[in-house]
Amino acid sequence: MARAKDGNRKPPITIRQNLKLAQPKWKAVDRYFGDLLVAADADLEAALRANRAARLPAIDVSPLQGKFLHLLVLMARAKKVLEIGTLGGYSTLWIARALPKGGRIVTLEYEPKHAEVARANLRNAGLLKRVDLRVGHALDLLAALVAQGVGPFDFIFIDADKENNPQYLRWALKLARPGTAIFVDNVVRDGKVVNAKSRDKDIQGTRRMTEMMAAEPRLSATVMQNVGVKGYDGFALAVVLR
Ligand code: SAH
Ligand code: DHB
Ligand code: MG
Repeated sequence: MARAKDGNRKPPITIRQNLKLAQPKWKAVDRYFGDLLVAADADLEAALRANRAARLPAIDVSPLQGKFLHLLVLMARAKKVLEIGTLGGYSTLWIARALPKGGRIVTLEYEPKHAEVARANLRNAGLLKRVDLRVGHALDLLAALVAQGVGPFDFIFIDADKENNPQYLRWALKLARPGTAIFVDNVVRDGKVVNAKSRDKDIQGTRRMTEMMAAEPRLSATVMQNVGVKGYDGFALAVVLR
């Protein structure tokens, strides 16, 4: 342990405390860039207000992350997008706005209340016609999408219960084509992901999903850690090669 000059032990600082100390700076920087680069937008802001008023969990993507998804969808020239985990539709709005004329996003949500709030937000923004919002367990809805021959999707955003991430990746591959991008949110979780012995099902789900990405010859994948208003987390991005 480090010692001060006078020989007294310095109080140890844990990783958790270090993260806490760093957070105000991450958040200030995120707000600085968010204010500069994410134009004030009545519909997006109204959606966030509606989500909080309805007491949905405050786990929507941040404004800069929403814009990042929007830009990825533009870069991919995606026309058909699949989102697993709608919440109040904040990320859905960002993605729907990147779609060209005739583009469509299918978004899957388990909680009827979340879906109802999302539907109102999307309708208020005039984007409901670009959105196919389906309510139920994503694993059932994904099976139905395959059975109905919907797809292939150009861009797939996985952001629901992390425990099922391995299955979501499996379905995503069935609903993809060569060139499809698969984005998985929240793979770092304050660094908890490195704990192989974690008893947290979400961590185990994310670890197994990432191992699948690594082992799947059809995929080329990477992970980016990030910090900001939501703390310390990260995302995985994979491209379907063949
Ligand atoms: N993408 C949203 C946030 C999604 S939060 C945004 O950034 O704005 C995760 C959502 O997944 C929650 O609304 C939760 O109800 C939903 N969810 C959890 N388990 C699910 C399941 N098995 N099937 C479908 N949705 C699920
Ligand atoms: C949680 C889920 C998310 O999708 C997210 O972006 C942040 C947190 C959660 O379940 O805690
Ligand atoms: Mg998320």
